[in-house]
Amino acid sequence: MIAHKCPHIQVTIVDMNQERIDAWNSETLPIYEPGLEEVVKACRGKNLFFSTDIDKAIVEADLIFVSVNTPTKKSGVGAGYAADLFYVESCTRRIASVATSSKIVVEKSTVPCRTAQSMRTILEANSRPGLRFDILSNPEFLAEGTAMSDLDKPDRVLIGSLSTPEGRAAQQSLIEVYSNWVPKEKVIGTGLWSSELTKLAANAILAQRISSINALSAICEVTGADVDEVAYACGLDSRIGPKFLKSSVGFGGSCFQKDILNLVYLSESLHLPEVADYWRQVITMNEYQKRRFAQTVVSSMFNTITNKKLAVLGFAFKKDTGDTRETPSATVCRFFRQENAKVSIYDPKVPEKQIFLDLTEPGVQDDSAVVKKQVTVCKSAMEACTGAEGICILTEWDEFKQLDWPAIYESMAKPAMVFDGRGILEADKLREIGFKVFSIGKGV
Ligand code: UGA
Repeated sequence: MIAHKCPHIQVTIVDMNQERIDAWNSETLPIYEPGLEEVVKACRGKNLFFSTDIDKAIVEADLIFVSVNTPTKKSGVGAGYAADLFYVESCTRRIASVATSSKIVVEKSTVPCRTAQSMRTILEANSRPGLRFDILSNPEFLAEGTAMSDLDKPDRVLIGSLSTPEGRAAQQSLIEVYSNWVPKEKVIGTGLWSSELTKLAANAILAQRISSINALSAICEVTGADVDEVAYACGLDSRIGPKFLKSSVGFGGSCFQKDILNLVYLSESLHLPEVADYWRQVITMNEYQKRRFAQTVVSSMFNTITNKKLAVLGFAFKKDTGDTRETPSATVCRFFRQENAKVSIYDPKVPEKQIFLDLTEPGVQDDSAVVKKQVTVCKSAMEACTGAEGICILTEWDEFKQLDWPAIYESMAKPAMVFDGRGILEADKLREIGFKVFSIGKGV
C-alpha cells in the first residue's frame, strides 16, 4: 500500500525464504487477498521490489519495518502463552551489524509490551559508533480478506515513540509517509508502551465480543431466542455498535488466540492473576463453542457419526482468505475423526495439501495415511455433499449461499441434515426442501 500510494518512495521487501520471494516475483502470489494482486503487479519493478538480499536493503533504507512473525512459544518459559521473539531479536541484531547509516526502525510485528525497549538496547549496544537508531511502534490493524481496503482506509494509524525530541522527529517521518493517503486526524501518536499494548488490547476486545455473543448463542439454543435478533437489537445501542457480533462456530486466525495468550502471560508476569483469568476466559469460551458445535452434530445424528459421511464446507478461518491458522474447521474435523466419521471437505481457496497438513498431528508419529483414509478433499461443494448424511458450514464463503440446495438434497442420504456454523443460510427455505437444519444460536 505504501508503494501504491507513494510513487516517490522505494519499498523493498526482503525475506530469507527464496521460494517465497520467487513467488512474490511471479505470476502467482504466495497468498490470496482480494485486490492485492492488482497493486503488486502495478508497482512491482517500479517502486516495489522483492528480494533475498537482506543486507543490501538494510544499508539502503531510511526506514525499516520489522514485520516478522511472533508465534506462541512451544517450549521453555511461558510455553503456550508467551510470544517467541526470536525472529524480532535476530532481525534487530542483523540491522545493528549491517547498517552503515542512521535508521528509523519500525516495530510492525505484534509484540508484547516493552519489546521496542529491548530492540533499542540491542541496536545501541551493537551498532557502529556515530549511528543513531530510533524505534517506533506501528502496529497493524488490518484483517485478512479485507486487508487492502483496511490499509487504504484505516480507522486509525497508531505510531508509538519515545517522548524525546528525537523520538518525536522519527514519529513525524512516519506520519509523513502515511499522510500521503490517510487523513491527519486518523494518525495517532502515543508512547511506545501504549502502542504495543493497544495492539493486544484491540484484538482481545474484538475476540471478547465474539465470545460474548457465542456464550449467548448457547442460551438462545435452549430457550428458543434467536441469536441474530439478540445481536441486532444489542448492536443498535450506539454504545455497543453492530460489528463483530456475529455468532459462529468460534473465532480463528493467527492473531486473536495468540494475542490473548500474550495478554494472559503479560498479566501473569505482572502478578495480576485475576486479570489473566479474565482474558483467558475469552479463549475458554471459544474452545467450548467449537466443541459444542461438534457435539450438536453427533447428538443430532442419533448419537453416532461412526462411518457416516459428513460434508464440511469451508476450511479457511474466515471467507476471502486461504489462511487456515487456528481455523475452527480443523478443530471440528479433528473431533469428527475421533468419532470415526468419514469427512469430505471443500474450500474454494485452501489447497488440499494444506488441509492434510492441518489435520495431521505434527511430531508424534506420521498419521497422514490414517487421516487420508478418513478425510477426502473435494473440488466442489456438490462433490463433498453427494451421499453425505450431514453438511457442516464452517466458513462463511458467499458461494455456499448460492448452491443448488435442491440438487444437494437429492444426492444425500436421508434424513439430510445441515449444520450452519456461520449462520449464513436461510434455514426456512432449506426446511421446505426437506433438510433438517441446525443453526448456531437458534432454537429448533
Ligand atoms: C484480526 C483483527 O480483526 C484485525 O484488526 C487485526 O489487525 C488482526 O486480527 C491482526 O492482529 O493481525 P483477522 O484475524 O484477520 O483480524 O480476522 P477477523 O476478521 O478479526 O476474524 C477473526 C475470526 O473471528 C474469524 O474466524 C471470524 O470468522 C471470526 N468472527 C469475526 C466471528 O466469529 N464473528 C464476528 O462477528 C467476527
